[in-house]
Amino acid sequence: MCKYSFNSERKAVPSWDGKEFHFLKNNDMIDFHRSLSGYKPTPFIELTNTSNDLGTGEILAKDESGRFGIKAFKALGASYAIFRVLKKIWEEKYSTGFDFQSFRDEEKLDKLGKFTFCAASDGNHGRAVAWTSKMLGHNSVIFMPSETVSSRIKNIESESGKVVIIDGTYDDCVRVASEEAAKNGWYEIADTAYPGYTDIPSWVLNGYSTLFREMEEKVSEYNIGKNDFIFLQAGAGAFAASGASWLIKQLGSDRPKIVIVEPLEASCYLESIIEGKAVATKGKMETIMAGLNCGVPSIIAWPILKDTADLFITISDDYAKEAMRRYASEGITSGESGASGLAGLIALMTDKTLEQAKSKIGIGKNSKIIVVNTEGDTDPENYKKIIGSK
Ligand SMILES: Cc1ncc(COP(=O)(O)O)c(C=O)c1O
Repeated sequence: MCKYSFNSERKAVPSWDGKEFHFLKNNDMIDFHRSLSGYKPTPFIELTNTSNDLGTGEILAKDESGRFGIKAFKALGASYAIFRVLKKIWEEKYSTGFDFQSFRDEEKLDKLGKFTFCAASDGNHGRAVAWTSKMLGHNSVIFMPSETVSSRIKNIESESGKVVIIDGTYDDCVRVASEEAAKNGWYEIADTAYPGYTDIPSWVLNGYSTLFREMEEKVSEYNIGKNDFIFLQAGAGAFAASGASWLIKQLGSDRPKIVIVEPLEASCYLESIIEGKAVATKGKMETIMAGLNCGVPSIIAWPILKDTADLFITISDDYAKEAMRRYASEGITSGESGASGLAGLIALMTDKTLEQAKSKIGIGKNSKIIVVNTEGDTDPENYKKIIGSK
């Protein structure tokens, strides 16, 4: 079973002139990432069998499972945000520049001192914060929901991150991370924004744009345009908003149609678009798509998705499993949240409850489609169970 809503607020070309959108003008993210050791653009792969089976045009999958060796796109956001935090501290303290080289300059880093970065996470963002902190010789503390599986905890500990389990959801962890940061003098590197805290999450959102920048050549080679589609999965929404704002910059009103995909039981964007304002989900917040199990839209992502997305759909876990198997059959390792964009496409093409949405949006054999596999097998045990089960 799936649900959907079209977006009556969508604008052909949004005008994001307000102060709250200034961060979208930042443009140095890809050069920053290129300066990091281990940087390599991730592959963009055509899923030939899947497009034949579903009856669509070409499906292009951007595969983030190998990003920086930590199995998810999230390192792009955490590293850029931590760079911007250190740059701000340095420039306020010494009134001289802090550039990409400074980020790897041990003398400068020593002069700045040791910091603790903290974050709430279902797994991937926490690992990315811990990975960046370890690279720089700083400490990290990651607050995780009680449902977290042990492999995701170990992933963070393997990057020297300290894990604190909170009896609650991802959103409870965000609250605790913010309180603990204030109490202990730590820097909170959140991937979601809330009232009074927007700068750092906006840098996280900026950082994700590198993966979209890497697609530019292929997007023009395949002549992706307004009759085509991009499926973007949303948790708190920064990933999808990063993609949507990049599409506006790149293609304006000729952008492909944007379909936002969420779990059935954690669908704060679908519920918000129906209500006409950002609201918390009324869902049970039970899903195997752990990275999408967020109850509240990020206040910087919500206005961007409200202005740009065409359709919001929610899917059951079975579609995520089917998409993981599909990816595997095309040679790509994809975890539960990673596969959810493709899962949304499969649902839109095949689920009875989405038949009207499918015909109204006009997806079919002439539509070219972009999906992003945002993670590899971040929970290897469950991955084996799902892939081995068919
Ligand atoms: C693999 C994966 N995909 C997608 C997302 C969604 O990102 P956002 O919370 O920015 O919507 C996450 C978030 O943790 C994730 O881990």
